Parts: sequence; C-alpha cells; structure tokens
Amino acid sequence: MSFKLNNPLFEKLGMKYPIIQGGMAWAGTGHLAGSVSEAGGLGIIGTGYWKADKVREEIHRAREVTDKPFGVNVMLLSRHIREVFDVVIEEGVKVVATGAGDPSPFIDELHSHGILVIPVIPSVGLAKMMEKKGVDAVVAEGMESGGHIGSLTTMTLVPQVVDAVNIPVIAAGGIGDGRGVAAAFMLGASGVQMGTRFLASEESEVHENFKNAVVKAKDIDTLVTGEIMGNRARVLKTKMSKNFVKQERIEIQKPKPDADAIEDLENGSLRRAVIDGDKATGAFMAGQVSGLITELKPVAQILEDTWSQAEDLLN
Ligand SMILES: Cc1cc2nc3c(=O)[nH]c(=O)nc-3n(C[C@H](O)[C@H](O)[C@H](O)COP(=O)(O)O)c2cc1C
Repeated sequence: MSFKLNNPLFEKLGMKYPIIQGGMAWAGTGHLAGSVSEAGGLGIIGTGYWKADKVREEIHRAREVTDKPFGVNVMLLSRHIREVFDVVIEEGVKVVATGAGDPSPFIDELHSHGILVIPVIPSVGLAKMMEKKGVDAVVAEGMESGGHIGSLTTMTLVPQVVDAVNIPVIAAGGIGDGRGVAAAFMLGASGVQMGTRFLASEESEVHENFKNAVVKAKDIDTLVTGEIMGNRARVLKTKMSKNFVKQERIEIQKPKPDADAIEDLENGSLRRAVIDGDKATGAFMAGQVSGLITELKPVAQILEDTWSQAEDLLN
C-alpha cells in the first residue's frame, strides 16, 4: 500500500516525491535545482539579490540537467524583482516561490502566464492573507530553518496554518529525513520543503567548507543573527557569527543601516560562505537540522531515502 498524497499541485508538476528543494540565495543554483527536479522532487533556484542576466543563466543551467518543471524563488526585498519576474515569464518557468515580503502585486500577472505562486510564510495571518490573494499553496516555514526565519516552530506553525486555510500547506524547517516528512504529514501538510539537507548533496555547488560544516555540525551548532538589528537569520556558529551577535548589541546604538548597507552585509556575507567558503567573514546559513545530517549524498538518494522512510512510517 502506498500513502495517498492529497496535493493536486504536485500531480500537475509531475513530481514523484512530495519534496521541494527550497530556494536558497547563492546556494540554490540552476544545477542543484535542475538535479532535484530531474530526480523527482521540485528544485527551486534561489535568486536572492541577483540581477536578471544571472537568473536567466541559472535557468539555462537547470535546463541542461532536466526537462522537468522547476521553480524560481524571488526574494522580494531585492531591488531587481521586476526584471527577475520578466525573465521568469519569458523563460516559461512553471513555479514562483517568494520569500521576505508580499507577492500580491505580481500574483495575477504570474497566473496569467500559467505560473504557480507559492509564498513562504511564517504565521497564520500571512497564510490567510496569501490565500485571499489567490496563491496556489503556502510554505509554512518554522524557525528551525536555515536562512531568514520567523519566530514559530514548524511543529506549532504547520497545524495552525493547516486549520486556517484551504490551500495546500507545505511544511519547512527542521526536516532532514523521512521521520520529519512523516511528522509533517501528520500535522496536516501535503508536502515538505528542505533546504539544509540539499546543501549537503553531491550536486550542491556550495564550497566544500560549507558542505563539511553542515555535515560536522551538531544539534546546538546554529545561532540566530539579527535578533536585535532585525532580519533574523539562522546560520552555523562560527567565530564570525558569534562575533556578529555580540557586535549587534553595540551597533544598536547607531542609526539603522540603509538598503544598500543591508544588501551588502547579507548578500556579501552569504556569497563569501557559498562561493569562497570563507570561515572568517562568511555567513553559513543552515538550519538546526544540520545536526541530523552526517553525510553527503546525491540528490536522487536523498529523495529516495527520505520518501521511502516516510512512506514506511505513514503506512
Ligand atoms: C543557505 C540558505 C539560503 C536560503 N535562502 C533563501 C531565500 O533566498 N529565499 C527563501 O525564501 N528561503 C531561503 N532559504 C530557506 C529555504 O528555502 C528553506 O525554506 C529552509 O532551508 C527550510 O529549512 P531547513 O533548512 O531546516 O531545511 C534559505 C536557506 C538556506 C539554508
């Protein structure tokens, strides 16, 4: 017997597994996203603060490895979003995921091109608002996640969002194996999104230092930056991130940085982790589930192992 999924979106996209690789700025490259879609999940390219040309290049890189649908995550704080949406539409991308903001102004336009819109949300209020605006599903993301986070845990957020909306709810945050997937389904989710697990995959193009740091991390090896300054983000504990948190207490006395300074800080420090593997100044965004991840695997094996374990438990 096989567990019956109740998610028409995934059927529409022809996915074999109800598992999405979450968009990750810098780390969610076309190669990784294409590989996940090719193996039967849904890969999502993370565009962060990228300009249109780079987004187009990564969409083409995804198409080098798959003919299957994949998504693009648009970071709504970026100043390049209009041009990024234009590229997504021109290139015939099938799914847009959004993070850090309200995608409402773009939903009708994306739908008119047959593009599914799936925002990431950290609260019930936002989930309800997104449903009203007509999105196709929501990703309910708990604060266990790597990257930018809200304040609720996946365990508490997912069932409350499931009760509040009538669209598919995809659970994210702290899921690294089939036990997490099965638990998410028990909470009422009809799909899961994983980020950190896919950082430690063979197809992930993050620097070796980053992959090794995820594999080596233990349960308590992440911390949250931005608790004081805003833009809370979960990263691996490094000398730099520990120092950053200390420094925040001093910096709070000074005027709030402008948009350029924030982009430079966030985009720059993540790039230094992902591309350069720079332990001294990079921000190694990764989730609490890092402690559960002990080896690098090909994405096809991650999907297969995760889903077969989940299916056994669910059955
Ligand atoms: C390195 C990194 C970068 C991320 N960047 C983004 C992003 O640009 N936009 C977004 O919506 N989510 C982003 N995320 C969140 C992931 O898409 C995903 O929801 C999250 O990693 C799930 O939690 P997990 O890490 O516990 O699996 C990022 C996560 C990581 C680890």
